[in-house]
Amino acid sequence: MSTQIRILFTEPYGTVSPRLYGHFAEHLGRCCYDGLWIGDARQDIPLTGGFRTDVIDALRAMPTPLLRWPGGCYADHYHWRDGIGDPGKRPARLGLSCGRRVLDDNGLGTHEFLKFCEMISAEPYLAGNMGSGSVQEMADWVEYCNTDLPTQLGQERASNGQSSPWGVKLWGVGNENWGCGGNYDPESYALEYRRYSLMLQHVDPSIEMVFCGHNLDWNRRSIAKMRDHLGFMDHFSIHRYWINGGHGTQFSDADYYALLDEAHRTEEFVVETRALLDDASQGRRHVGIALDEWGVWHPEARTWGPGDVASETGDYGQAGTLRDALATAVALEGFHRQCRSLSMANLAQIVNVLHAPVMTEGDRMWCTPTYFVLQMHAVHLNATAYRTEISGRESLPDGSSAVSATATSGGVTITNRHLHNGVTVNLVADRNWNRAVVLGADRASDENGPGHEERVRTKPLKVHREGELITFELPPHSVATIF
Ligand code: AHR
Repeated sequence: MSTQIRILFTEPYGTVSPRLYGHFAEHLGRCCYDGLWIGDARQDIPLTGGFRTDVIDALRAMPTPLLRWPGGCYADHYHWRDGIGDPGKRPARLGLSCGRRVLDDNGLGTHEFLKFCEMISAEPYLAGNMGSGSVQEMADWVEYCNTDLPTQLGQERASNGQSSPWGVKLWGVGNENWGCGGNYDPESYALEYRRYSLMLQHVDPSIEMVFCGHNLDWNRRSIAKMRDHLGFMDHFSIHRYWINGGHGTQFSDADYYALLDEAHRTEEFVVETRALLDDASQGRRHVGIALDEWGVWHPEARTWGPGDVASETGDYGQAGTLRDALATAVALEGFHRQCRSLSMANLAQIVNVLHAPVMTEGDRMWCTPTYFVLQMHAVHLNATAYRTEISGRESLPDGSSAVSATATSGGVTITNRHLHNGVTVNLVADRNWNRAVVLGADRASDENGPGHEERVRTKPLKVHREGELITFELPPHSVATIF
């Protein structure tokens, strides 16, 4: 069966902001501590400023344009002053997030995090503490980071080693405040949010404020409360985890397709949220949708939801297979289509936790298939996204097209979602694209790991070119980029 893809260069969706390729690092499990930050020198693990050099190098090459920190649920327990000043004098606190209570020595604080962002060229996004903090505490954090005046906080920042302001733009008012972030109802949160947003913007009017959304009911009610105060909101945050794909590695054909379908339907959630925002604003203000946590959350890494879940809270680590990478590619197609509506999207989480592109164990570091799929998408950053037209399709069991694609001025990424059948793709593109790579493996459940770090990785793809027609074979469960 062959499939034709045409790129409609006259029908642009918009520009793919690098912020759509953001990431999320929480003090949870082995993400921030151990995965990113080790702190003191260890002979077996090379460090740069306390962070793992191998992880820094991998993230730089991914790339990582944006990084949200320190949570997640952790954010609403975090007091930023605990993480500044002499590391030897920082208080050891209970690290609280998602049912975990661990010792947190605050070795990784504001200065370390923002230095790390510089090292990997990521724009920082700080999630403030609304659940157990105060407006004053969050406003002080903004001042500490951003003032260029020699105020007490400005001087304190300088004496801690940072004389010039960082100018952090993105500030979240809490996280999942409908649940772990304070158990608010939507109207109370919206009212409280307005106070935070106003006071923070008095300190620095150039910052962008992120409002916490949730499901459609919460979103409808909280947006209604914000209808006449939309000026306080730059981004409306939603989270979407895919939880219906069965076990991370031992999944059935039905599980495989269920996960890809769930990834595909992430776009619907964005569209539904957009309708609510547009209805409230009536063109008065464009509020971006920040999908600031997304990805697959397998049952073995949670104690709730569908599937054969864990009996106890673990470290939130899970397998990362080729199937997860394909789901990522499918979701990214939707992000590109919604690039005018989505202002940000952060994969959860950046290392060792949940849908991580990078994994570590002792002195070993490896990249998951999702890492490679993100790297293949680097050509799309800052590019113009265009509509594609697909015909002569190989079908999935539910009758939908097995082949899907996203095209930008940087190249085209094509996914063959079929678990068992390969396809011949005829791509019509009057562009001078002459490189092609493919990510695939014998089984969709294949993954990388210690001793087999490169089992799943990108390889050159052979294409045949005749004028504007580019023809190539796409194996089952694979994804390719022509650029
Ligand atoms: O990413 C793990 C957790 O998932 C985050 O802390 C929380 O925001 C979400 O529920």
